[in-house]
Amino acid sequence: MDPRPIRIPLANLAAALAETEPVWQAHLAEMHRRSHYILGPQVAAFEQEFAAAMGAKEAVGVASGSDAITVALRALRVTGDVLTSAMTAPFTGVAIRAAGLRPVFADVDPETLLMDLDDARRRVTRTTAAIVPVHLYGQPLDLEKLRGVRVPILQDACQAHGAPLCGLRAYSFYPTKNLGALGDGGAIVTDDPRLAQRLREIRDGGRRNDQVAHVEGINSRLDEIQACYLRAFLPCLAGWNQRRRQLAERYDAALAECDGVRPLARVAGSVAHLYVVRAKRRDQLRQHLSEHGIASGIHYPRPLHLHPAFRDAGMKRGDLPHAERAAREIISLPLHAYLSDADLDEVVARVRSFY
Ligand SMILES: Cc1ncc(COP(=O)(O)O)c(C=O)c1O
Repeated sequence: MDPRPIRIPLANLAAALAETEPVWQAHLAEMHRRSHYILGPQVAAFEQEFAAAMGAKEAVGVASGSDAITVALRALRVTGDVLTSAMTAPFTGVAIRAAGLRPVFADVDPETLLMDLDDARRRVTRTTAAIVPVHLYGQPLDLEKLRGVRVPILQDACQAHGAPLCGLRAYSFYPTKNLGALGDGGAIVTDDPRLAQRLREIRDGGRRNDQVAHVEGINSRLDEIQACYLRAFLPCLAGWNQRRRQLAERYDAALAECDGVRPLARVAGSVAHLYVVRAKRRDQLRQHLSEHGIASGIHYPRPLHLHPAFRDAGMKRGDLPHAERAAREIISLPLHAYLSDADLDEVVARVRSFY
């Protein structure tokens, strides 16, 4: 790829920092005043604020979105296979494996690239321990289709902060997310206080505010320092998501007549985490955009059933045709809350000029 400097990036955390500086500065000062850096008042306050913002009773902060999935699966005390989408970040599968479970995969809906829940239902067997549906690109899956399935469901909401969801779910605060920290972070939300208690034990070495490992735990705690920033960003989330949706709609309208690209279908309640289109000659288009200082991404270039690490799912090329085809065609264009209309229009103009 051309090393030309990027003028229009995929994300812009610097702008979020500038807008919220007095708030995170105050939280940081308070953190230093108390010299409490692990599981202190900032994390406790953020957990309450995040739970309320997500419409849940409890939130439990952990060290990453991957850990949120792992810790939640461990708290469910299941054994066997975990069914998830073939089109997601590799970390969904990595996190399932880290819980000592075997990831297996379902295909996706070709219009949205969300997990095909009819296909998922068909793949439920006696060894299925749990299902991990993924609200990919900020688009909420309608989980009604899984009603009656007798296995626990843990939602991967790592890309869907603020989307209208309920039930047990895992979030990531990776810096580029709709709600991003300045490093790794994650959280699990639930309405079940007993499950929340287990989650708190597991993330803290199995301890119960003592020095005894009561259950098999790990060390995965959200840092106080990240909570300072997340608390400052959280009140902006709804406005940022609104702006993201506006931009996604502007892209949809502007690209509707462009022959070379086809935007994915938009789902009600989307928080537009990524703007993904199918593109003819995708890799050449990326090169062209890069030559004009425009960042792009591929989310994701290989469906998970074709990753060497997940070979034991026993699936091969051709098994999940919609995910495999999409992986060859998709490209993510710049989309973040601080993207200007002018920059978006320039991206569109460059896409058009390529074709
Ligand atoms: C869909 C999805 N699942 C899981 C993860 C893992 O989150 P993290 O990077 O915070 O471990 C991510 C983010 O990378 C993601 O986008």
